[in-house]
Amino acid sequence: MKVILEILRRESREKAPYVQKIIYETDDENETVATALNHINNRGDYKDTDNNPVTHIHWECSCMQEKCGACAMIINSKPRLACGSKLKDMGETVKIQPLKKFPAVADLTVDRSIMLENIKTAGLWFEESTKADETVGDISYEASRCLQCGCCLEVCPNFYTGGEFFGMSAAVPLTRIISAVTEKQKKDVYKAYKKHIYEGCGKSLACHDICPANIDIEKLLVNSNGAAVWKRHIGKKKK
Ligand code: SF4
Ligand code: SF4
Ligand code: FES
Repeated sequence: MKVILEILRRESREKAPYVQKIIYETDDENETVATALNHINNRGDYKDTDNNPVTHIHWECSCMQEKCGACAMIINSKPRLACGSKLKDMGETVKIQPLKKFPAVADLTVDRSIMLENIKTAGLWFEESTKADETVGDISYEASRCLQCGCCLEVCPNFYTGGEFFGMSAAVPLTRIISAVTEKQKKDVYKAYKKHIYEGCGKSLACHDICPANIDIEKLLVNSNGAAVWKRHIGKKKK
């Protein structure tokens, strides 16, 4: 298999971006964008199509098994996990760019710290120990699968870094808190949900279709809106 990798390079956020084209060949049909990037960096002697050396390509990864969210980037115009993007499914030319909603760092690495900052601002933690509620176990489990990759923010028309609307990467963990929060903390958590999620979300569900973890975002939103906004008791067992 032979593909052309068109990578948007940028040495640092102060430097202008440019596209570097690399011809990449492999016999491994399971090769992904992530393994290709690793291979190019590890070999260190690749030349681009203009015969210029390919310097170290900055990008982030950890698990290489679609479990950590670190390797999120835009591949062929869609935010995806590089380790879950097989080259054989990407066509002859694979366009690779960093996520655009976050400040650039270098090459395919961006600064996604706003996701954690937003979670901190929304007060998303339990202030006292709480027992798992069996009636909302499926909601908690679904929310716990969030990778904090940021793909949902990339496609969200309402999210921008520094805005009051925190997007689905905050809404999903908020859903988990809402499903188990103590009475004492309820008021603050519900208030944060209304201000930072409910009031800014256009319910277009573009995030639902893009999520690489296939989280059932629609179901989580319906439950959280019911609990925090419409005051329904989520997970109440049907009699
Ligand atoms: S909701 Fe999905 S797309 Fe958004 S951060 Fe979590 S795993 Fe990524
Ligand atoms: S439903 Fe639409 S507006 Fe709401 S977080 Fe998802 S993409 Fe953004
Ligand atoms: S490296 Fe962990 S999701 Fe890709």
